[in-house]
Amino acid sequence: MASLLVPPVSVRGMTCLDRDAFVTAVEVPSLKLYKVTISKFMPVLKKYLLKIRNLKPVQTVDDGIIIYLDPKVVTKFEDITETDRNLLKDQYKYFGKTQLTLKYENWKSDDILRSVLPEEIEVPTSFSQVGHIVHINLRDTQLPYKNIIGQVFLDKIPNARTVVNKINTIDTTFRQFTMEILAGDKDTVTTVKENGITYQFDFSQVYWNPRLSTEHMNLLTYMKAGDVLYDVFAGVGPFSIPAARKKIKVLANDLNPDSYKWLQKNAVINKVKQNLQCFNMDGRDFLKSIIRNDILNRRNDNATGTEHIAMNLPASAIEFLDVLPSWFTEQEIEKVCSKPPIMHLYCFVKCAKNEDACAMAKSSVEQKLGCTLYSDFLINVHNVRDVSPNKEMVRVSFLLTESILKGEEPAMKKPKIEDSTDTYVDFSGTNSNSCMSYRDKDNNGKKE
Ligand SMILES: C[S@@+](CC[C@H](N)C(=O)[O-])C[C@H]1O[C@@H](n2cnc3c(N)ncnc32)[C@H](O)[C@@H]1O
Repeated sequence: MASLLVPPVSVRGMTCLDRDAFVTAVEVPSLKLYKVTISKFMPVLKKYLLKIRNLKPVQTVDDGIIIYLDPKVVTKFEDITETDRNLLKDQYKYFGKTQLTLKYENWKSDDILRSVLPEEIEVPTSFSQVGHIVHINLRDTQLPYKNIIGQVFLDKIPNARTVVNKINTIDTTFRQFTMEILAGDKDTVTTVKENGITYQFDFSQVYWNPRLSTEHMNLLTYMKAGDVLYDVFAGVGPFSIPAARKKIKVLANDLNPDSYKWLQKNAVINKVKQNLQCFNMDGRDFLKSIIRNDILNRRNDNATGTEHIAMNLPASAIEFLDVLPSWFTEQEIEKVCSKPPIMHLYCFVKCAKNEDACAMAKSSVEQKLGCTLYSDFLINVHNVRDVSPNKEMVRVSFLLTESILKGEEPAMKKPKIEDSTDTYVDFSGTNSNSCMSYRDKDNNGKKE
């Protein structure tokens, strides 16, 4: 009989899941009470109860109530505090041990995999869930056990229908994972809800990252009805669809034909087709043709509202800034900058713990632009998320002023620090709040 609450040792090394092999007998401390209204005593008993999946720790039997206790908390009656024992004393029958049979259904995935995998192999615990798809990132040492790991995750994670393993880091043009299905349905078309909006897509063909949901919401706080969003790397629409819902006119683009297909479908699902135009072209061409023409038409029409250009391709969006110097002619620049559009550019920054990712991102953008982002044109530098221990994702939001479009240093050389409390800016790189925004919008610089 197992003396600890773990699956039997015989399951160690199993590579093909045999659920019956997890049946085991255990002995647990227990308390017998006379028939009582148990809810009255739950506040007292709660901290001693045995908590195991699919097992009720309080059972009514013919001659009373039996309560299974956690052997990590109680091994003898005196482990129950004197005060609690006094509270129970009128109902107390006896304290003893009870034999229970535990099965696969009673164990957590962690208990199961810890018992199955060789002791030197780390048990996978982290995963992301995208609709019905659970995705994990197994190490090489875990791969011989990938099928059993997949099956256990499938059994134990609520609403999981498919388990996939990423088989490389994202390095494809379209930023989707190459994945292998480990267990469950072969169906990778899924539906997710983010910030109250429904998206449908084939997770094996497009980019989707649940860790960006806060940023998807944050960016929208810069926009209001009547503005325009040019979403250069739109994916399946997590910036574009909510913006269109907010009555912002959206021109959304993605080079991946699958993203484009699901973007259009998501416009239909969310009933925002009237505010959203979709394009399937290279981002550079989109900037040079569609965005350029739309901004010029808007200036000719004296259109109101602000134009926002979202560039969420952090690995290389910064390279697309080379479009700017030849984007508009001198005369056009004057018109365009009578009401400068706002660029929201995302980048990855490789940095050590003590380095300031925001200051580094700002500096990279400045180098590419060939001019300083003074506080007059800088809207915000925001640390979006930790990608890995030495890699951060940062957004730099700035106005496309004449000097930026010409790639020249502006006439005004000194950053202007205004008195108002909501125009604080500090890019010295020495202050831990160095990601606070000029307009102080993004949670005081807090990460998601
Ligand atoms: C990091 S994802 C961002 C998707 C979406 N905006 C989001 O926040 O989830 C970048 C997207 O850019 C697209 N992409 C990659 N290279 C591109 C290019 N040269 N032109 C246009 N889109 C591109 C990819 O297909 C992918 O959907």
